[in-house]
Amino acid sequence: MRRAVLAAAALAAAAGLAGCGAEGTTRPLPVAVVGTLPKATAITKGNPAVGKQLYAQNGCGGCHMFTPAGSNGKVGPDLDHLAADAQKANQGPLDQYTFESIKNPNGYVVPGFKAGVMPDFSSLGDQKIADLVAFLTQKS
Ligand code: HEC
Repeated sequence: MRRAVLAAAALAAAAGLAGCGAEGTTRPLPVAVVGTLPKATAITKGNPAVGKQLYAQNGCGGCHMFTPAGSNGKVGPDLDHLAADAQKANQGPLDQYTFESIKNPNGYVVPGFKAGVMPDFSSLGDQKIADLVAFLTQKS
């Protein structure tokens, strides 16, 4: 029963997204919404405390320097400078840039670094990636 409700919500959300993404359509599409849908955010909300654990469990620190995690890896970019890198990359807002960097590391490769070095962490799933994003982007 719960699954059915979730599936319905997912379908409705997908329909909503398809409506938004349909470029070239100038006519507003009528969308009937029955019941309440989860607030449509581009990115799942993450929990920074969980993200900190995931950062340790997934060996991120072996390659990345990041002061809040106490890690000093030198293979990848220094994540203390993530916000500045995101701005240079010009690939969207910081949280979105960070999310994509973890989910699809070779989609955009930070200048001065090689593609194919950072493992693809998409198998963590969006929620865990969002937790990592929350940890990496929280203001301390
Ligand atoms: C084997 C080494 C390695 C591991 C492990 C690794 N990374 Fe990376 N990471 C890299 C390299 C190299 C880059 C730069 C190249 C690129 O953009 O793919 C990078 C880029 C990034 C960026 C973009 C950084 C910037 O300054 O723009 C983020 C964010 C990131 N990694 C997060 C993570 C997280 C979170 C984990 C753990 C889940 C992780 N990385 C694990 C090597 C690694």
